[in-house]
Amino acid sequence: MHKNDKLFVWHPYASAIDKNPVYGVIKAKGVHIYLDSGKKVIDGMSSWWCAINGYNHPILNKAINLQLSKFSHVMFGGFTHKPATDLAKKINEITPKSLQKVFFSDSGSVSVEVAMKFAVQYWHSKNSQSKKKFLTVRNGYHGDTMGTMSVSDPTNGMHSIFKKSLLKQFYVPCPEDVNTYTNKKNSKSLKEMEKILSEKNKQIAAVIIEPILQGAGGMRIYHPDYLVQLRKLCSKYNVLLILDEIATGFGRTGKLFGFNHANIIPDILCLGKSITGGYMSLAATVVSKEIAKSISCKDPGIFMHGPTYMANPLACSVALANIKLLFSYDWEKKVKNIEKILKSGLEKISKNSAVKDFRVIGAIGVLEMHDKVDVASIQKKLVDHGVWLRPFSNLIYIMPPFIISQKDLKFLINQLQIVINIEY
Ligand SMILES: Cc1ncc(COP(=O)(O)O)c(C=O)c1O
Repeated sequence: MHKNDKLFVWHPYASAIDKNPVYGVIKAKGVHIYLDSGKKVIDGMSSWWCAINGYNHPILNKAINLQLSKFSHVMFGGFTHKPATDLAKKINEITPKSLQKVFFSDSGSVSVEVAMKFAVQYWHSKNSQSKKKFLTVRNGYHGDTMGTMSVSDPTNGMHSIFKKSLLKQFYVPCPEDVNTYTNKKNSKSLKEMEKILSEKNKQIAAVIIEPILQGAGGMRIYHPDYLVQLRKLCSKYNVLLILDEIATGFGRTGKLFGFNHANIIPDILCLGKSITGGYMSLAATVVSKEIAKSISCKDPGIFMHGPTYMANPLACSVALANIKLLFSYDWEKKVKNIEKILKSGLEKISKNSAVKDFRVIGAIGVLEMHDKVDVASIQKKLVDHGVWLRPFSNLIYIMPPFIISQKDLKFLINQLQIVINIEY
């Protein structure tokens, strides 16, 4: 496995030649990942936000196996099937009433591309063809495809090399940190937002933002009132609001969706990652009735996008089972408990002088270090201590499956503390 990996495989955000170590996985169950070295690690990453209900779950396995015994895929152009219609209905039930139509795609990045195209086509249908640009905040992250990179932070983010190849959008400073935001009048970000919206709204199709937490752009938590004010601004200046809940959706921040912290409703919503509980890649772009109607009633009357694996039945079946599973237990209580343990644990670790700050929201705990973390070095020590985490830049963060026991979570945090004290 490792020889072929070295010879033929390219890993995410990695070099093809100068490789950091990778760890061979042979099995995963619950919150444990079993390595080919014989080691067992507790998962603190939920495989990048996805595995909220843990690995190899009998209910999710059953759902996918049942669908597999019927059919694994058919094209979605001209066909429909129960996995897709039941999942779309479920998404409709758990999201605000004004959001109605669900467009399935294969990945979070594509769902954001789709959202952007929906926004542009909506304004086209309203005879406002000049509204085709996007306004977003610094430190945002919406994916790795060209369109999504253009609305991610092109200067500070991980995409700076591509800056000149990307569409030029409008940017404002990122939302103030949750602890420094007081109100809209003192928010530089909102002031800039209003300035650009008032001057350029005839060019702007939508504002796009990750609600309540900026993920890959720095794991930054911001104030719910920022979202309340942003919603008002978008309505005032006749610009759509796209909320990217790909990371924050399905309970991760302590509410079902990030926007529930602020009680606002987007015009377009992007869902992905944990929608299938980490089983398969699936994403959804959900649009309001008004957008769906307007696009459909105006020539050409169709939306020009159609992924080959759109609404894959295996992915839809497991997503539906995963959402039902989430609602079958008191996930809010579980996430609250995780939050409590993360807060007290990270506070203790933050006594190490290498730690600059720590922050927690829901089942997300972040240690911000003063300096960039040596990922290969710290990850090896973490694995040796039975823990799986994947720091990036100067951030070490924990976002375990919701089903993690208190004992396992405390063990994970304790081991992290030991490793940090060895490393620094
Ligand atoms: C907020 C947000 N949007 C979009 C994406 C892209 O999703 P995907 O990796 O499934 O393309 C991510 C991935 O980390 C994300 O965190």
